[in-house]
Amino acid sequence: MENNPVLRAEHLGIVFGGLKAVSDFDISIGENELVGLIGPNGAGKTTIFNLLTGVYQPTEGVIYLNGKSMAHKKPHQMVKEGIARTFQNIRLFKELTVLDNVKVAFNQGMKYSLLKAVFRTPSYWKEEAEIDRKARELLAVFKMEDMADSLAENLPYGQQRKLEIARALATNPKILLLDEPAAGMNPTETAELMETISTIRKNFNISILLIEHDMSLVMSICERIIVIDYGQIIAKGTPQQIAKNEKVIGAYLGA
Ligand SMILES: Nc1ncnc2c1ncn2[C@@H]1O[C@H](COP(=O)(O)OP(=O)(O)OP(=O)(O)O)[C@@H](O)[C@H]1O
Ligand SMILES: [Mg+2]
Repeated sequence: MENNPVLRAEHLGIVFGGLKAVSDFDISIGENELVGLIGPNGAGKTTIFNLLTGVYQPTEGVIYLNGKSMAHKKPHQMVKEGIARTFQNIRLFKELTVLDNVKVAFNQGMKYSLLKAVFRTPSYWKEEAEIDRKARELLAVFKMEDMADSLAENLPYGQQRKLEIARALATNPKILLLDEPAAGMNPTETAELMETISTIRKNFNISILLIEHDMSLVMSICERIIVIDYGQIIAKGTPQQIAKNEKVIGAYLGA
């Protein structure tokens, strides 16, 4: 379908203690695509993210980022290849400020010389100023610039979720994986977040793979949806096709 998929995985599988948590999982995501990954609790969605980002090594299958094999790559190496993610359980540096949380993430994606940092050379300060400016710009995308100096742990939950996405974007990804970004948000915050996700995709020209429990929400913003149950794909298609798919309805009613 896509000529040059940003992310492609084939026959991905992993076994935990004899149990196939994920098996025969195929995915291909093109440039600037927004794809939904849904399925009942325990279906294997987060496990798929862990496989795609190098947290788990697959027992079977292959992963390519921009045509390059990711076999045996560690998560931080994969970040440098252009994949970023957020976590189902928020992961932030709670005792750091909002701004510093984003700046740390920028540094992850930088070819920073340790010597420069230790000796604080002029070029170090120039880069520092540049990172400060970019971090504030990124916070502005999320309308969080006023919170730059607050501690991350003091932010309301919905804002923490947005900060996590800002941090992921700071690593300059080609594809962003979001694991239930709206979890714990109220309906207003959720609607706003979905708006932000659409904006991010356009403005940063990235691809997005979105795990989300709220079906109507996924249907409203994704052009393509993959449904899994018991670690296997049970349906793929447009929101309209998924909404009337018998297997999907069965899986959700069963769960
Ligand atoms: N590290 C692990 N060791 C053993 N079993 C695991 C591990 N990680 C996940 N599992 C199991 O794999 C299955 C899939 O879990 P996973 O967290 O991927 O589901 P999920 O679709 O993200 O669910 P939820 O919607 O609740 O977040 C579950 O049965 C889970 O218990
Ligand atoms: Mg999960």
